[in-house]
Amino acid sequence: MKRLAGKSALITGAARGIGLAFGEAYISEGATVAIADINYEAAKAAAETLGDAAYPVRMDVSDQASIDAAIASVVETAGKLDILINNAALFDAAGTVDITRASYEKLYAVNVAGTLFTMQAAAKQMIAQGHGGKIINMASQAGRRGESLVLVYCSTKAAVISMTQSAGLNLIKHGINVNAIAPGVVDGEHWEHVDAMFAKLEGKQPGQKKAEVEAGVPAGRFAVPADLTGMAIFLASSESDYILSQTYNVDGGQWMS
Ligand SMILES: NC(=O)c1ccc[n+]([C@@H]2O[C@H](COP(=O)([O-])OP(=O)(O)OC[C@H]3O[C@@H](n4cnc5c(N)ncnc54)[C@H](O)[C@@H]3O)[C@@H](O)[C@H]2O)c1
Repeated sequence: MKRLAGKSALITGAARGIGLAFGEAYISEGATVAIADINYEAAKAAAETLGDAAYPVRMDVSDQASIDAAIASVVETAGKLDILINNAALFDAAGTVDITRASYEKLYAVNVAGTLFTMQAAAKQMIAQGHGGKIINMASQAGRRGESLVLVYCSTKAAVISMTQSAGLNLIKHGINVNAIAPGVVDGEHWEHVDAMFAKLEGKQPGQKKAEVEAGVPAGRFAVPADLTGMAIFLASSESDYILSQTYNVDGGQWMS
């Protein structure tokens, strides 16, 4: 028996990377998946690679009207919403005295407000349906502790961990489980961007930051998105019905909490 048979899922930021891997994994477990992304062309192309159980949705999680339209589009296409993964996020790096308000506002609009208000809109839909639901927020090891050049991003992910705790406590009375995943370092386009940023900020060669970070992972390597899919399926399935408000590290041993 497939663990997500007949379920309708919405994954934000699913046009590439971890979100796309989650989409593929959910479909293999029997779900129908909305591949939602601000980059609609990429979402369309990604959904096509996943076949009939996937469909693209245009969505900017920093915009309330876009959140509402995306939820409405899921309900129109799949008839209901059972699972949300709040996966879309932005990254930036700068020393404390160099952080700009523009960067702060952009990251908080997507990583914090986007997570909160997408969670809220999904919860309203799930409550109206009356059959509970599953919400999974993407945190990060960066939310467990600060990093010298990553103040803003780290603090947004700490907020995700905290919001997961409060929302989980508040929504369980409706049968909605809210939990989070805290990955360590996951290979993909995101890390190419991070490596290039650190090359500039720390005067490193391209690839040097990545190699240094990889050397510090107890498991001996970067994660690939498929390393995270088991946890994402578990948290979306009935096997996790008694679990709420938790953030699970899936990080090759980088952090213990
Ligand atoms: N890659 C890592 O090492 C790592 C580590 C820890 C946590 N994470 C978290 O995992 C999640 C996925 O990471 P990834 O590496 O796959 O990211 P990524 O940058 O590869 O993909 C993010 C996707 O989100 C989309 N997006 C950006 N802004 C959006 C918006 N306003 N509305 C809708 N979509 C938007 C982008 O178009 C992109 O497709 C993020 O929450 C990230 O913070 C990643």
